[in-house]
Amino acid sequence: MKKAQVIIDKEFILGDVDKRLYGSFIEHLGRAVYEGIYQPESAFADENGFRKDTIELVKELNVPIIRYPGGNFVSGYCWEDGVGPKEKRPSRVDLAWSVIETNQFGLNEFVDWTKAVNSQVMMAVNLGTRGVEDAKNLLEYCNFSGNSKYSDLRKSHGYEKPHNIKTWCLGNEMDGPWQMGHKTAEEYARLAHETGRVMKMMDPNIELVACGSSSSSMPTFGSWEATLIDECYDTIDYVSMHQYYGNRDNDSANFLASSVDLDQFITNVIAICDYVKGKKHGKKNINISLDEWNVWYHSNEADEKLEKWVQKPHQLEDVYNFEDALLVGSMLITMLRHADRVKIGCMAQLVNVIAPIMTSDTGAWKQTIFYPFYHCSRYGHGTVLNTIVKSPVYEAKQYGEAAFLDCVVVNNEEEEELVIFAVNKDLEEDMEVTLDLRQFSDYQIVEHIVMQDEDLKAVNTESNPDRIKPANDGYSKLNSGRLSSKLQSKSWNVIRLKKQCK
Ligand code: AHR
Repeated sequence: MKKAQVIIDKEFILGDVDKRLYGSFIEHLGRAVYEGIYQPESAFADENGFRKDTIELVKELNVPIIRYPGGNFVSGYCWEDGVGPKEKRPSRVDLAWSVIETNQFGLNEFVDWTKAVNSQVMMAVNLGTRGVEDAKNLLEYCNFSGNSKYSDLRKSHGYEKPHNIKTWCLGNEMDGPWQMGHKTAEEYARLAHETGRVMKMMDPNIELVACGSSSSSMPTFGSWEATLIDECYDTIDYVSMHQYYGNRDNDSANFLASSVDLDQFITNVIAICDYVKGKKHGKKNINISLDEWNVWYHSNEADEKLEKWVQKPHQLEDVYNFEDALLVGSMLITMLRHADRVKIGCMAQLVNVIAPIMTSDTGAWKQTIFYPFYHCSRYGHGTVLNTIVKSPVYEAKQYGEAAFLDCVVVNNEEEEELVIFAVNKDLEEDMEVTLDLRQFSDYQIVEHIVMQDEDLKAVNTESNPDRIKPANDGYSKLNSGRLSSKLQSKSWNVIRLKKQCK
């Protein structure tokens, strides 16, 4: 059995967890909106046409903010098509995903739906085919309380009170040649700055996220951020990052090491943010919105064969296996280990499209990746402690040296709870992990949750939805303030301790 040590100190605090780290994303894409969250003809629909079974699972997942309406989709979107009487809404050709968009679901329905799932909207404006004027109009429609053309239009649609959407994305993946209205860094930086400036004139209370790189492997990564932040430093609050991984070569050890790449990506973006801040003698930090992240590759081949110009095709419907859940756990740990600067995270996406939740005519079920996200969004609140991990390492083909153990400790002082999230990436051996907790002398172990399986490729399906699920059967013991845990080979672990009442 391998051995590892984790070291923390109560006073060595990395930063507070912003609950928006556990956000998600709904795009008009595939069956995310139609059949995923909205399906008036379904037996599961409520009076608004929202699927009740999806609502229940999203509530369980505990998602505080949801990005909308895209994604690539937003770069050709006319938001006006999706408001007002449904019978008057036009169908449109969506060039991002080669489908027909009926606009039967739009921003007001999304605002209502986010309320039903106890969440908030993170709204993206179209900076692909549109610009400053449309972004301003959309913000006026959503947030302006007085009487004006667009706020009156909102009121005429039955929404007297403004939606007061706080967090806004200035376009989507504008560095990507696949994006409608793709721009150079200079072109986008100017547009983002001017759009953001006008939007903040309309509503100074909003927060703005500018598009960073679409992945760490983009050829423009680095110079894109430097140009962008240099131009927009005074206007924006966050720079976005997007990152997906896949096990295309079926090399599980390498795949599980992808979190090393994510860690480096985040570290590099922080360095660029701080370089520009220093150069400008600035006071504020530009923080990170990792507003698309996940595993995405299973559906790539099938998607190439899809018929075009249909409605709600089965698109990007990755069926996630157990190793995907392990990597999702590691990605969450990586984000938490940067919680001082990564303030928003959106798992992409939420329902049916590269999603933790799937629906069919017979109901809704949880994919494997549902669980690590659920555990973090439930228990990963408070302050992240600087977590030193002394772990044996291995050599990953693509990513170089990777630790077998990924781990982070979160101290929830309000709940008097200490939570340890850990992944043992060793495909062969269990691991004994020790942690000196004498500073938390009156804490006791509440539970050690484990997700483990010998079959890395095991999946949850409509007919077998519980093939992979967590159990409460991990082995951890506390002896005179020293925690010793056995982390099974290839496992996701959540060890919860709580202060005991005397
Ligand atoms: O989430 C799927 C797609 O991935 C999004 O539309 C786009 O922003 C990214 O490339």
